[in-house]
Amino acid sequence: MSMTHLQLRKLFSEYWESKDHKLIPAIPLIPKDDPTTLFTGSGMQQLVPNLLGDIHPLGKRLYNIQRCIRAQDIEEVGDNRHDTFFEMMGNWSLGDYFKREQLNWFWAFLTRELKLPEEKLYVSVFGGTKEIPADEESVEIWKKIGIPEKRIVRYNTKTNWWSRAGAPDNMPDGEPGGRTSEVFFEFIDRPHDPMFGKICHPNCDCGRFLEIGNSVFMEYKKHQSGLVELPAKNVDFGGGLERITMALENQNDLFLTNIFSKIVRTIEKVTGKKYSGYQKSIRIISDHLKTSVFLIRETVTPSNKEQGYVLRRLLRKTAFNLHKIGVNLNQTPSLEEIVESVIDTYGNIYFDKERDLKQIVPVIKDEIDKFGRALSRGIKEIEKITEKDLENKAFYLYQSYGLPLELLEEIFVNLKKKVNKEKFREEFNRHRKLSRDSSSGKFKGGLADVKEQTIKYHTATHLLHQALFDVLGDGIRQEGSNITSDRLRFDFSAPKKPEKADLEKAERIINQKIKEDLAVKFKIIPKQEAFKIGARAFFKERYPDLVKVYLIGSANSPQDAYSKEFCGGPHVKNTGVIGSMEIYKFEKIGSNLYRIYAREKLPRPNGRGFN
Ligand code: ALA
Repeated sequence: MSMTHLQLRKLFSEYWESKDHKLIPAIPLIPKDDPTTLFTGSGMQQLVPNLLGDIHPLGKRLYNIQRCIRAQDIEEVGDNRHDTFFEMMGNWSLGDYFKREQLNWFWAFLTRELKLPEEKLYVSVFGGTKEIPADEESVEIWKKIGIPEKRIVRYNTKTNWWSRAGAPDNMPDGEPGGRTSEVFFEFIDRPHDPMFGKICHPNCDCGRFLEIGNSVFMEYKKHQSGLVELPAKNVDFGGGLERITMALENQNDLFLTNIFSKIVRTIEKVTGKKYSGYQKSIRIISDHLKTSVFLIRETVTPSNKEQGYVLRRLLRKTAFNLHKIGVNLNQTPSLEEIVESVIDTYGNIYFDKERDLKQIVPVIKDEIDKFGRALSRGIKEIEKITEKDLENKAFYLYQSYGLPLELLEEIFVNLKKKVNKEKFREEFNRHRKLSRDSSSGKFKGGLADVKEQTIKYHTATHLLHQALFDVLGDGIRQEGSNITSDRLRFDFSAPKKPEKADLEKAERIINQKIKEDLAVKFKIIPKQEAFKIGARAFFKERYPDLVKVYLIGSANSPQDAYSKEFCGGPHVKNTGVIGSMEIYKFEKIGSNLYRIYAREKLPRPNGRGFN
């Protein structure tokens, strides 16, 4: 059965609604207040506290469709199925149903609702290791459903264990995870490619099989060096909307399905190049531009740091691939049409077309123009470098001009400069590894060591938010925030620029509230009531009917609390544990847009942040 991704979304939602699941609104691609990951990478991201035991305001059965980015897949894009932006269709049981219902229901969704042919579906289960037992229960369930033994495969932790950090050994303390059972679709017309191994099997990378759904049985949590049981047995399911679409169309090339076809056709039209002749580059351009559009819509701008750096890389790679297929970057092609095709693909789900085009196109155009100029300058620079120095200068050229390795090599060849490619690559990778190791703290060390400090900053952020209202009045609006273990960052808009005295006043208020050692509590109440008591919401987020509101001070009469804010937590129990705070940096980041950095004041006797 073929259907558009819009119809697929509808069927998925109706299906879980019919099983008493409640829709949880998707969260932004840049997780708010979560310093451990750059991007929302799976549907469960917002449910981590609930999988660990917190109750969820909407109950125990939940579903949604979550936009995600996996930046670690950037280098994989170009084959038939990898993408950096995708949407994950998810359903969850928070200690309600478990394996039997989950596997039966998902199977029924695939075979009855979507009418995928059973004989093309394979399943995998956890085969067992020394520490973690095999999941024979799931094998029995699959057999009862009618799947013959030959279509049930067993894998180990690499494939059939899931946590945000991967295998148990990589999980930081406190991180939830569990054994999984996946479903695979077989493209029977695609022959196995022996380059990927002698025998083909569901998890083979040759492209004959595609994983289309992953049921994680979340029942463990990492604790010290081992695993302990969570308070409840949860289900965390995720299935890629894009991949299920490929199965529905029996189309092995993601870029030819209805999720990408309009974008690919527009790129063909704008560049005058055919997909069939320039498959890899056009795949990269369409994926990277799509991801960029989504990031810019969430106000990320190209920079040399964190999310901004990922955006910059995506756009430079787009530019490079445009150059590679013969587009002259000094006469920028009509990028607007391509952006429009991305927006049109998603109907009204994510975009307000006129407004978003105005915001997004200039950012993309500017970065691609810059790259075009850097390319010309880089070529001039390379002309000057002697052959002897080429290998040593590779990384410098990459860093200064953003010229990727592949492009550098091409320029060398064009300039008829001889280069020792192997040595060149070696040097390049050595430098790249060095710089990556020093900059990517995400998930290294993990949640545990940063947790206590970031929780303090999270509560301090709420105090700052309210203090700014106290000082600057009702005209301000939160535009975003970001917390690391070193500081908090808070973006807001205000009709007029705050004075130094205003910031000092806000700082004094925060420290006063910390001194008062106010209790921090939450209440789960209907959204309308939360608005009535004046709880602060984040305008970029949509909220469900029942919401969690954090109150600082006066929890018994919520309207009198000092700070009231829609928030999932976690927070400190009392403000007194936060050390005295200082606003140490203030900047203007756009028209009427300001950014504050604050941290606990040094010195910190006993390293605890008390003064
Ligand atoms: N959280 C699981 C995944 O991302 C479902 O695969």
